Amino acid sequence: MELPGVTVEHVPEIDSTNTELMRRARTGRTDAVLLVADRQTAGRGRLGRGWVSTPGASLTFSLGLPLAPADWAGLSLAVGVSLAESLHSRVQLKWPNDLWVDDRKLGGILIETAAFADGSRAAQRYAIVGVGLNLLPRPGDGMATPPAALAELQAGVEPLAVLRQVARPLLDSLRAFERSGFAAFQARFQARDLLRGREVVLGDGTRGTAHGVTGSGALLVHTAAGTQAITSSEVSVRPVT
Ligand code: BTN
Repeated sequence: MELPGVTVEHVPEIDSTNTELMRRARTGRTDAVLLVADRQTAGRGRLGRGWVSTPGASLTFSLGLPLAPADWAGLSLAVGVSLAESLHSRVQLKWPNDLWVDDRKLGGILIETAAFADGSRAAQRYAIVGVGLNLLPRPGDGMATPPAALAELQAGVEPLAVLRQVARPLLDSLRAFERSGFAAFQARFQARDLLRGREVVLGDGTRGTAHGVTGSGALLVHTAAGTQAITSSEVSVRPVT
């Protein structure tokens, strides 16, 4: 696969594509790389969780590149918008950046950044955008609500074909975010906002109604105590079912 200015690497197995690019960044390797793995042995999710994927039935990759936006706020939402748009019109976004279909999770995004090892280029950081997508349904995984799979939405879900489908738009979106921030993505997020108008529970148990996102990507929740703008990715928000 060709991606302008980016080295594409495909490995059969690794602990985690995010972890590998973070290791490299710490030793000063901060060139633009897309690393795709057939299998991860220690895949990581947000909030310290693990990420389980199945070879051939999942797509797991990380795109690492130097970025210097004026404002980092909303980056993870912009990445979600890009992926949702390049996948299918039915893919929705659950703040901050989970990809959902029909109230089931299709995929997740883990963004991490590293400072440049040599301490120069203060405004610039190495951004590692990790993406995990379920391509085929996982039979008998015994969950009350099985995860969604891309095969429900489109024919042809071979991992490298799906990578070709999403990688170029993702790179272009990251460049657009670097130039002009979250503003260009806000309305596009709203169009796919799964939580909008729904009752949600915040991490501390507070209930409220989600009312979209601000220009910096914060989630607005109307609660009995007033409107809260949720910014921390450490706060979990779930829809009341
Ligand atoms: C989440 O929803 O919690 C985020 C999941 C992110 C998983 C991807 S798979 C590729 C990359 N490598 C990892 O270890 N995690 C991300």
